[in-house]
Amino acid sequence: LIAIANPNNPTGCIASTDDLLRLAAEVPSAAVLVDEAYFEFYGRSVLERRKECANLFIARTFSKAYGLAGLRLGALVGGADQMSVLRRMCSPYNVNGIALACLSEALNDRVYVEQYVRDVLESRARLERTLENAGITFWPSQANFVLMKAGSTPGAAVEFAERLRKRGVLVRDRSSDFGCEGCVRITLGTRKHTDRLIDALLQTLDELQIPQGAAQS
Ligand SMILES: Cc1ncc(COP(=O)(O)O)c(C=O)c1O
Repeated sequence: LIAIANPNNPTGCIASTDDLLRLAAEVPSAAVLVDEAYFEFYGRSVLERRKECANLFIARTFSKAYGLAGLRLGALVGGADQMSVLRRMCSPYNVNGIALACLSEALNDRVYVEQYVRDVLESRARLERTLENAGITFWPSQANFVLMKAGSTPGAAVEFAERLRKRGVLVRDRSSDFGCEGCVRITLGTRKHTDRLIDALLQTLDELQIPQGAAQS
């Protein structure tokens, strides 16, 4: 099994549909799972071209743009014969009835999801502009979060996250992820959340005396 999150977590980077299909075609004996948990914030999917590769599977979740993490709802798409094998192995009760009853309501409420995604995309652009102006290294993102470098040591990320926490803003220390030493991941929300985040972020950068460009390496 080769699993690829697209957009990726925690960087928010993407792989092109052509590259993903080329990879799947190169390894016909492996199952290639493209995890599109953040699809709504990116807008592109391999779904339309799934039939080009029999070994391609696509996963989606209702935990992100739909805000339904507590319901534990997701979807897996693959070729009919592949899916029939998977069905034999998975629990017949892998989705609970109440969650399923909520699903059609959630799918029908397009206005909510579209508005939420618009808010997040606007917030993402605002945060990226703020980081750029402050000279902070970050990874331009296609998801609902941005990974930024708080310093060059794991301690820098802990300190940064703690100072933001004291200001009521929770960010994730991602220092233990491969290649992410000193990095924190900031998840975006509504405009109001972003006003508060940017305020707290600028105060924290100032407090830690991270001058322009100092977090870059
Ligand atoms: C790439 C990716 N896939 C899946 C998930 C989790 O989804 P779920 O809540 O449906 O388990 C996450 C959550 O952080 C994620 O980053």
